Formats: sequence, structure tokens, C-alpha cells
Amino acid sequence: MKRSNNQETIRRIAIRAAFLLSAAAFFALRCVQPAAAQDITAYAKECARKIAPVQEFDCQKGAEIPITVNLQSPPGYQPQMDCDRPSLLYQAGENTDGSCVPFSRAIVLRDDAQAQIVAICREKKIRDRDPKLFDEVDVISHNVHTGSTCWFQAQAAEPLAPNRGLFGTRVPSPEELIGKKFWNAPAVTAKGNCVTCHDSDPFMYSPYIAQTRQLPADPFGEYANDIGAVFRAWEKPSAISTRGNTCVGCHRIGNLTTCRQTVREAVGIVTSHGSDDWAKQYPNSHWMPPGNSMTEKQWDQIYSASVQKIFACCANPKAPECEITPIRGALPQK
Ligand code: HEC
Ligand code: HEC
Repeated sequence: MKRSNNQETIRRIAIRAAFLLSAAAFFALRCVQPAAAQDITAYAKECARKIAPVQEFDCQKGAEIPITVNLQSPPGYQPQMDCDRPSLLYQAGENTDGSCVPFSRAIVLRDDAQAQIVAICREKKIRDRDPKLFDEVDVISHNVHTGSTCWFQAQAAEPLAPNRGLFGTRVPSPEELIGKKFWNAPAVTAKGNCVTCHDSDPFMYSPYIAQTRQLPADPFGEYANDIGAVFRAWEKPSAISTRGNTCVGCHRIGNLTTCRQTVREAVGIVTSHGSDDWAKQYPNSHWMPPGNSMTEKQWDQIYSASVQKIFACCANPKAPECEITPIRGALPQK
């Protein structure tokens, strides 16, 4: 009797242990399996919750970004032509018509104390006036309090051609189901490594987009790419400065593409791709600070040494005179 009781207990324990073990194995397996990649709908919903919703919009309601040559609208446009204020986005090897393609549009969708949302509808191919088709649509949405920032991108199918592209008159919200067809998956957008250029703050100034005044600014605000695993994996930018530096009074200077490249373009050390003679001439060649009306000699006196210090710290941030401050959001870093 006693023995069989004992046997029964052992049998029960064994069954229970087997059950617990298999349950543990089941949960463990679920945990080690990589989480399914977040799709655009889930990402957009998280962005809406943590920043603000991105509503449907119409690219044609945006401000046209002018292309001028000697401050005049040219009689026509040619692929790879030069202009006064080329887009600074040029990426060599892309099948585009260059940096002076007309009819791109910029539109601020929201700019208040809670959220800043801006879109650019880019033309990379020359089309007739007021085109409904675009080659790329990008949106940045930014929470002014926490600094959390989301990135949305849609791209026309390759090879780009004037007679096809993204239909820009009803850009769907990325939260809507029909947005799934229009917008890239977050993993695809993240491959564009937006932060490398957008490294000082979420928004990227250039003389090209500044013509529209459709650009929010948060120059010293919190800034973090802390939504979505693929964006959290991006390099985290820092601000570069030196003591008394005259270039960082109005905004930070990011340590990625801004200090390596954009600053050079801003102070006439290199000319941006697509620059015409007007763009290469002082003061147009020195577009920082904005609306620069100094003589070149005055400019050099105030800024040259500061610019050189930025370059030195960009190349060697460990040098003792460099002040390198990580750019962060207000929420705990994950
Ligand atoms: C190679 C540098 C570079 C990269 C990478 C980049 N951008 Fe930009 N972006 C720019 C520049 C420069 C501008 C300003 C307009 C211009 O000159 O074309 C800009 C402007 C924008 C704008 C208009 C608002 C603003 O900040 O001026 C949006 C929206 C935008 N980018 C989104 C994105 C997204 C989304 C990605 C990643 C998928 C991205 N960008 C990657 C350089 C870049
Ligand atoms: C009087 C204010 C002021 C000064 C001084 C100034 N800037 Fe700017 N700068 C701006 C504004 C405004 C913007 C666009 C708004 C923004 O991005 O916060 C800007 C944007 C930029 C950008 C575009 C990059 C980006 O992330 O948007 C670069 C590069 C830049 N400045 C470099 C410089 C350099 C180099 C100096 C010193 C020679 C300088 N700035 C001095 C006002 C200034």
C-alpha cells in the first residue's frame, strides 16, 4: 500500500516536472525567437501614441521649392543643370536628374508646443509644371517634450521615370491600412540612415528648402530616435563645440554628416553638387549664418577660427579642447 502510494506520488511529480519543463521550453523558445519585424502600421501607431498622428495630406498643397538661375526662373530645365540653391541631398550614382529638379514641395503638417511634423515631396525627374507624381515622399514627426522622432519614407519604383511615380495628391496616413502599400516598411526606411544627415536636430536646413519657410525648428531641443528597434539601432549623434565657438550660438552642430560635409558646404569650402556661379560667389557661398550680409573679411574674422575648430574636433573628438555632448531625448535611453 505504502509503496504504491509512494510510486504514485513519484509518478505524479514526474508528470508535473515533465509538464513544467515542456512549458518552460515552450516559453523559452518563444522568447529566443526574434520578434517579428514591426510593420509600417504598428510603427505609425506607436509614433501616433508617443508623438502625434500623421494625417493624410496632399503634396500639391505644399509650397513649391523654387529652382532659380541668377535669381530668375530659367526658361526650361535640363537634367544635371546647375542652379542657385540646389538640394543638398544629392547622392552619386542615383538615377536622378540631379540637384536642380523643379516642382518638389515642402509642407509643415503641424508645428506647435506638442509636435512638429514636416513632409517633403521630392521630384527627382523633370516633369511638367504642377505634377501629381513624385519620386519620393518623406515625413519627420517629432515630439517637442520628449524628443522622440519618427521617420517615414515612400519611394517610387525603380527605374524612376517622368511618366510614373508616387501619386502625391492623397498621401495616405501611415496608420491606415492603405498606407501599407504606399509607405516603406520601417526596416527599409531605416536603411536610409536618416540620422547621419539629420544629426544636429531632427530637421535639416538648406538654402534650397529655406526658400519655402516650410521648416519647423527645434535647434536645442530633446532629440532621440527611440521608437522602433530598427531606428534605435542607429548611431546616436553628439553635438560638437569648442569654448566660445561662434557657430553654435543658434543651433548644435552634429558630429556625423553635418560636421564632415554640411558645414563645408555652408561656409564655401566645398560647393554643393549642382551649384551655379551665383551659388559659388560670396556671400551666397557662405550661407551661415542665414541672411549673411557681412563682408568676407568680417565673416572670416568672426567665424573662420570657429569653423576650423569644428573640423578639428570632427576629425579628432578626443582632443582636449573639444566639447562633445551626446544629443538625447527626455525619456530613459533604451
Ligand atoms: C544624405 C543626407 C540625408 C539623408 C541620409 C536623409 N536626408 Fe532628409 N534631408 C536632407 C537635406 C539636405 C534636406 C533639406 C532639403 C534639401 O536640401 O534637399 C532634407 C530634408 C528632409 C525633409 C524635409 C524637412 C527638413 O528637415 O528639411 C524630410 C521630411 C526628410 N529630409 C526626411 C528624411 C528621411 C525620412 C530620411 C531617411 C529615410 C532622410 N531624410 C535621410 C538630407 C538627408
Ligand atoms: C544667427 C544664428 C546662426 C549662426 C550664428 C549660425 N547658424 Fe547655422 N543655422 C542657423 C539656423 C536658423 C539654421 C536652421 C535651423 C536649424 O536647423 O536649427 C542653421 C542651420 C545650419 C546648418 C544646417 C544643418 C542642419 O542640421 O540643419 C549648418 C551646417 C549650419 N547651420 C552651420 C553653421 C556654421 C558652420 C556656423 C558658423 C559659421 C553657423 N551655422 C552659424 C542659424 C545660425
